[in-house]
Amino acid sequence: MGIYEKYFLPKLLNMAMKSPELSKLRSQLVPMATGKVLEVGIGSGLNLPFYQKGVHVTGVDPSVELKSYAQEVADEHNLAVEFLSQGCADLPIEKDSFDTAVVTWSLCTIPDPLEALEEIRRVLKPNGKLVFIEHGKSNEAKVARLQNRINPLWRVIGGGCNLNRQPDDMINNNGFKLETLTEGYIPGPKFATYNYRGIASIA
Ligand SMILES: C[S@@+](CC[C@H](N)C(=O)[O-])C[C@H]1O[C@@H](n2cnc3c(N)ncnc32)[C@H](O)[C@@H]1O
Repeated sequence: MGIYEKYFLPKLLNMAMKSPELSKLRSQLVPMATGKVLEVGIGSGLNLPFYQKGVHVTGVDPSVELKSYAQEVADEHNLAVEFLSQGCADLPIEKDSFDTAVVTWSLCTIPDPLEALEEIRRVLKPNGKLVFIEHGKSNEAKVARLQNRINPLWRVIGGGCNLNRQPDDMINNNGFKLETLTEGYIPGPKFATYNYRGIASIA
């Protein structure tokens, strides 16, 4: 890992992900998580203040740098969060363990998002749900073309983040069924602000 990824990227991500537009979406979706919750790609813990009282959160993320921010948020809000500092493949968790999985702006970055969804499905209870907020491919052809063009550079700057994934299809075609889906731009440059959010159940 280089100096940029170790020292600058975590600060940058923590700042960028705190934007009021993203917080507004967090406040709408995260409270829908109930019971035992697995948050995949918990990052700097910015969803933690939005969980309902009484949920128990296990956060998975390979970034130990972001985990220290998340731990601060957990302490500040007096939440007992269990952290697993690893990628979301091969989780040391029994099948059918969680009521809800939460993934926010991480399917864009996880190197193999389909493998991640398979693992999420394994550890979710049969009646479990997946709460998601993701950015991705725009529904406007000219914006989507721009996203494809700048994606190689964006991946480097954004620590592996992709602009042009299609999270609704990824979820719907890989063991889940979309129960609700809202998509559209939030304020900001169009290439980075087309968001998909909703709830999926196990298909
Ligand atoms: C853009 S950040 C989003 C963080 C957080 N979910 C949020 O809403 O602020 C993407 C996150 O995906 C995490 N990530 C990257 N590869 C991963 C993997 N294989 N498994 C789980 N998380 C991963 C990164 O470390 C980072 O925390």
